[in-house]
This record gives sequence, C-alpha cells and structure tokens, in this order.
Amino acid sequence: MTRAISLHDVSKAYTRDVRVVDRLSLDIAPGEFLVLLGPSGCGKSTVLRMIAGLEEITEGQLLLDGEYANDLIPSERDMAMVFQNFALYPNMTSRGNIGFPLRIEAPGEDPAPRVDATARMLGIEDLLDRLPGQLSGGERQRVAMGRAIARHPSAFLMDEPLSNLDAKLRNHLRAEIAALTRQLGVTTVYVTHDQTEAMSLGDRVAVLRGGVLQQLDTPRTVYALPRNVFVAAFIGTPRINLLRGIVRAPLDGAMTISLGKQYLRLPEPLSLDHQLLRVQQGREVIVGLRSEAVRIAKPAAARPGEVAISGLVEHVEFQGHEILVHFNTGSRPAVVPDLEAPRPTARPNRRRRREGTVLDRFRDRAGALRAGPVVVLDDPAEPTPEAAPAEARLPGDLVVRTTPDIDLRRGMHVPLLVDIAHLFVFDQHGERICPTPARLPDLDE
Ligand SMILES: Nc1ncnc2c1ncn2[C@@H]1O[C@H](COP(=O)(O)OP(=O)(O)OP(=O)(O)O)[C@@H](O)[C@H]1O
Ligand SMILES: [Mg+2]
Repeated sequence: MTRAISLHDVSKAYTRDVRVVDRLSLDIAPGEFLVLLGPSGCGKSTVLRMIAGLEEITEGQLLLDGEYANDLIPSERDMAMVFQNFALYPNMTSRGNIGFPLRIEAPGEDPAPRVDATARMLGIEDLLDRLPGQLSGGERQRVAMGRAIARHPSAFLMDEPLSNLDAKLRNHLRAEIAALTRQLGVTTVYVTHDQTEAMSLGDRVAVLRGGVLQQLDTPRTVYALPRNVFVAAFIGTPRINLLRGIVRAPLDGAMTISLGKQYLRLPEPLSLDHQLLRVQQGREVIVGLRSEAVRIAKPAAARPGEVAISGLVEHVEFQGHEILVHFNTGSRPAVVPDLEAPRPTARPNRRRRREGTVLDRFRDRAGALRAGPVVVLDDPAEPTPEAAPAEARLPGDLVVRTTPDIDLRRGMHVPLLVDIAHLFVFDQHGERICPTPARLPDLDE
C-alpha cells in the first residue's frame, strides 16, 4: 500500500525566532516520486525528517492518506529511510542486514524469501554472504537500498543517498533507483542538492530556498518556466546567464532592453509578453538567457526572432563534445544570493570580497529574509555601475555552448545571435515577468 503524503503550512523552528522550514505545503500523490531540491542548509533534510517522524513539527499539519499524522511515532508511519551515510551493521552479512528489519517486524517468519527476492531485484545475489567491509561503496549502498525495499514500506524517504559515490556509479544507481521505485510504485520523497539528479529522477521537483518553497512543478516546467531568478539559476547547466538590463520602451520607437554597452531590440510586431514589458519602462530588470538561447553566427544569418549582439572571448572551456565560451558583452551580471556553487568564472578578488559581504548580510538577517529578495540589484554599499572602475567588471558575463569544431581564442570579437523566443525577464525582486506568469505551461501532457 502506497501513501499520499501532505504537508499543510508546515514550519520548523529549532530556536524560537528562526524558522528553518517556513509554512511549507506539499501534496504528494500515492506512487509519486517527489524531489526536494535546494542548496545546503535550505531545510531539505528537516522536511524529510518531519515526514519520517524523527523531528517534531513546530507548526502545521502532516497528513498521511488524509489522516492527521503529526503525532505518529516513526514505526507507525511505515516508511523506509535511506540516508547519505547508510549505516549497515558491520558484523552482519548483506543477508543479515537486509533481513534485519524483517526479523524485527515479524519475528516468527523466515525472512529468506523476501531477502532473496529483493537481492534479485537489485542484482546483488552474489553479495549476500559478504560483510559490509568486503563491499565497495556502491555495493554497500545497494544493500542499504535492499534493506529499505525488503520491508515493502508504504513510502521511501531518501536523503542524498548517492552523494558519497563517485560520478559514474551515481549515474548508474540513479537510473536504478528511478527504475526500481517506478516498478514498486511506492511514494518516494528524495532529497538532493544536485539539480541534475532532481531533474532526471523526479515526477515533480520542489525547489526550496531558506526553508521556503520557491516552486513545485515537473522538471520540464521548472526549467522552462522558472518562477523566479533563484529557480532559473539553480536549475540547468551551464547556469543561465543573468544580466542586468534596463527596459526602454519609447512611444515612437522600437522597444529594447539595454544591457550596458549593447541592447536587445525586441522583434516587431511585439509579442504579448513583450507588450506587457512596457510597464517596466526605465526600470532595471534581469535578463535571463540560457546557453541554448545564444549562438555564434553573423547577423546576416539571423532567423526570425533572433537579434544580433557581439562578445569578446574571455575564456574557452573545452568539454569534449562541446565547448563553453565565456564572453564579455559589456553587461553586468545579476547576483543571486544563496546559490550553492558560484559560476566558476575567474573573478577579480576585490569583486568577490564585496559579493561575500552582500551574501553575509543576507545570511545575518536570515530569519526575516529567508523568504526575502532572490536577487541583489540595488546594493547601497556598491558603487553605481558608472562609478565602478572598468577592471572591477567580471571578465565573462555570457556563457555560450557551441560545437567543438569552432576555433575560438581569447581576445576574439565574435558575432552572436540571441533567440528572443528564449528570453527570460525577471523584475527587481527576481520574479519572472517574461514569459508572463499568466501563460499556461503547455509543456506537460
Ligand atoms: N538540530 C538542529 N538544531 C538547530 N538547527 C538545526 C538543527 N538541524 C538543522 N538545523 C539548521 O536547520 C537548517 C536546515 O538544515 P537541514 O539539515 O534541513 O538542511 P539541508 O537542506 O538538508 O542541508 P544539506 O544539503 O547541507 O544537508 C540549517 O540552517 C541547519 O543549520
Ligand atoms: Mg541535508
């Protein structure tokens, strides 16, 4: 029997005034694979532990199959947890480890048939008589999965179960987990800070930031229609390019978004989305361009909907099947606090230190600001862009993905085409305004 799991306005406060999970509501359907995704410290494990009954719920309700479950002890919830640091009993064989919960649950019964069936499912029959010390990390993790599965729980709760494994094994086990949970049809809540893992596993992905739900949607929708700049930046590799822009919408001319030294001229007739941008006239916005929205080509090669800009090659990252080209287009990147891994472009130290203080200030004001701005545009401590010395500018502000056959070197000026159909615009608070939020996602189903 698989479960529906619902959280209604669930909060957690370890200390009186800081909510590490803030009014979280989620409805997880029976059999659904839901991923909780977010940077370190955003509250993912806390949510999982509240569902498991290992952590008390400070406020709000947990419902299991529609029944109030806040006060149930863990064993009454009939869920199996798999942790990052899977603890196997070192003095028991794999067989003993997998059978252990079965022996506790039904002391009179012989666990062997279930253990064998589980081992077959996981392809670990030949490991059953080994001790954990005689297994590789991946094999141990499979045994730990076996221990969770053998019980036939009504839900799986997995907390970064793959993060201790090397990349190749992680990919392999990721595919296995996906296949296995679908086959078993058991409701699964899976915690990770790895967006690739989230996107490839989840039926839906819940993106958390500072304990606050940012978006809950299918992987396709969070990628194609991120609610805000945080979600846009957290999901997708290479990370979306986020540039500060100013909307220019003169009554008698073309509408443009100025990007510092260059501008994007919005194609006419203006789409509905772009017409709605008019109200932003004169305001600072954040332009989001995923790497597939920009290609290297001359203006003459522009297809309908593409507009020309140019960039100075700063850095070329060879990746084998493709290359990532870091361009300087003379614009200024927007800074999104709380993102885990900053984009790996070389940044002058001075700048980095200053960004550090902005981040720190955000963290200091954690309580109130956990749900606060998702973007820093107007930092009073920062000099205005005009006043900032040229060398403080980041070397690359736009990353473009291209095939490896193009020979590009640092210092080259290169023509670029931006596909305006893939343009995102976010407002001063980081909320998406283009494509308009009202536009219904027609991507799923
Ligand atoms: N027992 C505790 N007492 C006080 N604060 C705690 C406790 N456990 C967690 N926290 C805090 O709650 C916040 C959320 O922690 P949590 O472990 O849920 O984050 P997470 O998203 O799982 O992070 P990670 O990806 O690093 O595992 C953090 O700021 C953490 O410091
Ligand atoms: Mg955690």
